[in-house]
Amino acid sequence: MPQVQSIAIIGAGTMGSGIALTAAQAGLRAFQIDVSAPALDKAKAYHQKTLARAVEKQKMTEPDAAAALARIAYCGAMADAKDADWVVEAATERVEVKKQLFVAMQSTFKASAVLATNTSSISITDLASAVGADASRVIGMHFFNPVPLMKLVEVIKGIATSEETTARTMQLAKDLGKTPVAANDRAGFVSNRVLMPLINEAFYAWMEGVAKPEDIDQIMLLGCNFPMGPLRLADFIGLDVCHDIMMVLHRELGDPKFFPCPLLRQLVQAGRLGDKTKRGVFEYGAK
Ligand code: CAA
Repeated sequence: MPQVQSIAIIGAGTMGSGIALTAAQAGLRAFQIDVSAPALDKAKAYHQKTLARAVEKQKMTEPDAAAALARIAYCGAMADAKDADWVVEAATERVEVKKQLFVAMQSTFKASAVLATNTSSISITDLASAVGADASRVIGMHFFNPVPLMKLVEVIKGIATSEETTARTMQLAKDLGKTPVAANDRAGFVSNRVLMPLINEAFYAWMEGVAKPEDIDQIMLLGCNFPMGPLRLADFIGLDVCHDIMMVLHRELGDPKFFPCPLLRQLVQAGRLGDKTKRGVFEYGAK
């Protein structure tokens, strides 16, 4: 039996809803928490659609899909999930928002619950400073989009994270069917330290007219076996997210090479954020 029976996920956006579905499919009870009712509705629709598709494709039986859906509770408040064994914060990528959530998590959940964050670049040590002595149970659990499909969980220890918290996190990631890999608490960890400058460089190649965006992607697809070209991937992740992560890398690591490409900045300023606004580098049909 898995050590963790239930998990609370704070935030019902793309990452949070993916984590909840993954947990439910792995047999855990998942509390999907968001203050926004429309966000919860959207998460539920995503869960229903993905499970229905798995049944259609005969990857899952109908009773198993129904049972997975029934394991997800949609909650408007953290208190509704206070008995959960584990918490993953997957809210907006803003330090102050996350710190406030960590303070609330500390007072809401039981003392044995691990307080994890799905942050993609914010320092775990900094976030953990919001909860004082409970910093030992704060850890980074960085999932990848789309969560149900991507195998990795990047596990990041803050300076005060205990060995026990780390060992339990590695085990939970395995219980979720993922492969955990540890990284240290430096801006962007490993994944975004390497991925985001690559994406940023693709914007420079486009801006300097080295090739058209579709050709940049085609070159990386066919020549490097990328599953998605870097510019398509940027739209998929969100150009605002890519921009914000580059700003964190730039600020924390201090190297000008991390400054976001002017063209990336301009698209974000224009509200062209990628898939979510139906237009980023590429266009994705009517809004
Ligand atoms: N949730 C659940 N299932 C999904 C899904 C989602 N969001 N998106 C696609 N799927 C399923 C599809 O239903 C389909 O299932 P069937 O085989 O049963 O039909 C299957 O996955 C394959 O989907 P597609 O045929 O539509 O597409 P594909 O084969 O091209 O794969 C992809 C899609 C997995 C997204 C692939 O293009 C890929 O691996 N892209 C790169 C993704 C990536 O790099 N992610 C990391 C981003 S960085 C990040 O997340 C961290 C950060 O901090 C920024």
